[in-house]
Amino acid sequence: MLAFSEGRAAARLDGQWGFTDTTGRRIVPSQYEQVFAYRNGYTPGYAKTAAGLHRSGRPGVAPAYEAVQDFAYGLAPVAVIQKVLGAMRRTRWGFIDVRGEMVIPPQFTRALAFSEGLAAVRVEGCWGYIDREGYLMIPPRYEQAHAFQHGVALVVEKGRLLYIDRGGACAGRARPLESVSHISYVLPLLSSIYVVSIRKASMEISTLAVIGAGTMGQGIAHVAALHGRMVRLVDVSEDVLQRALQTIEHNLERQVKKERITATQKEEALSRIVPLTDLEAAVAEVQLVIEAVPENPDLKAQVFERLDRAAPPEAILASNTSSISITWLAARTQRSAQVIGMHFFNPVPVMQLVEIVRGLETSDATYETIYHLAEALDKTPVTVNDAPGFVSNRVLMPMINEAIYCVMEGVATPEDVDRVMKLGMNHPMGPLALADLIGLDVCLGIMEVLHRELGEDKYRPCPLLRKMVAAGRLGRKTGRGFYEYASN
Ligand code: 3HC
Repeated sequence: MLAFSEGRAAARLDGQWGFTDTTGRRIVPSQYEQVFAYRNGYTPGYAKTAAGLHRSGRPGVAPAYEAVQDFAYGLAPVAVIQKVLGAMRRTRWGFIDVRGEMVIPPQFTRALAFSEGLAAVRVEGCWGYIDREGYLMIPPRYEQAHAFQHGVALVVEKGRLLYIDRGGACAGRARPLESVSHISYVLPLLSSIYVVSIRKASMEISTLAVIGAGTMGQGIAHVAALHGRMVRLVDVSEDVLQRALQTIEHNLERQVKKERITATQKEEALSRIVPLTDLEAAVAEVQLVIEAVPENPDLKAQVFERLDRAAPPEAILASNTSSISITWLAARTQRSAQVIGMHFFNPVPVMQLVEIVRGLETSDATYETIYHLAEALDKTPVTVNDAPGFVSNRVLMPMINEAIYCVMEGVATPEDVDRVMKLGMNHPMGPLALADLIGLDVCLGIMEVLHRELGEDKYRPCPLLRKMVAAGRLGRKTGRGFYEYASN
């Protein structure tokens, strides 16, 4: 199937365009031999010298189609040369409809390009669109657009050259031209070249597996499913998975109540998450696996070995580890170029950052794919090198550890330590409340990695942290950490 329209799948059948209907019956309308494209249920083809329409084998050759340059949404856009004041000529974009009538929507005079039924215009220095009724839209992030091609704007943001689609989302990153200063002049010449190169360099991820349905795994599955990805969520027991789905539903419902998403989006997101206990079966056909099992090096190593055996050879294996070396995890596999760190932050649906960690062997293609995916999930990726704790936890965890020392040494109560950091430093929550949110076992695990790998006393885990973990006071998830939490 190559396209889909009006309940039928358009396909090339034995070299011809045709349809497969909902019962799977193949229909190849007569006269489709000349068809060179297919759009929205119509097939523009050449009949005699004019481009015409054929549908269900009935030729509908629209008059005046000689001038047609493209075909979209059942209308043929044409550039119309008009005479103004008897002498001056100017070009206006218009349509020829299927009856052969010319339609020139208002304000199309200003159109500089044309894409998907919309006229692209520059208004007061910004790129925008005018639809057929003459309404102007300036998509988000288009203010900075330098150029425009094929329905996407080329925007320079923080020194990076990005393609931004009409929803304001990043549709790709234009790397080969980063060093070119006068983008707007070279773009028309090179656009087709680098659009192709972007597609080759990075893979579009539509299906992924998340291993581990704890706090982070739930959050990652939530965000990926909400952004249209098919997600297989894997954990060891049905119970854990059912609880995870309930939490995801609860968190999606929060977003519905806050009118961040619609009830339909919530239902669609939930329908994209498939819970599974069989890891091998879950990863057999995915393009990406994001591992989010507990922060234990032996466990992660074991999981990576299993994933390497079970996932398709071209699949990328990402780890949400908060401190373990990506290079070391990659060495447990036969595909170290396809292993990368994708470090999300709790609560995943809310936090903007994804720390992208390149291992020693991580390939550019793997990196590009994961970078684009993070952007497509509406996150902001920041790239760091593989070092214990990366940047986030190397800075955050010693602060939390020091706050725990303050409590242990009686410098202040947990409430006052947190109050100092909230009111004095403007942190959204104090370090001890944050430790409860992250999980004290996770904090301890990260401090142990920092201490072992960096070898300095300043990373020694606080004895009170060890004691609380030993007592099972792990924070919110067990109902008690530095604070007590009512079970919900
Ligand atoms: N799912 C969906 N939405 C959620 C959510 C969740 N799990 N948790 C909170 N929200 C939403 C709320 O609905 C609310 O939405 P709104 O802005 O549309 O009103 C918004 O987030 C804020 O929530 P609240 O009003 O309930 O509470 P706060 O304003 O106090 O914010 C907080 C809560 C977002 C957690 C904020 O306190 C915060 O940013 N804290 C710092 C968190 C942090 O530092 N995380 C990183 C931890 S480190 C880590 O994860 C790395 C690992 O390796 C250890």
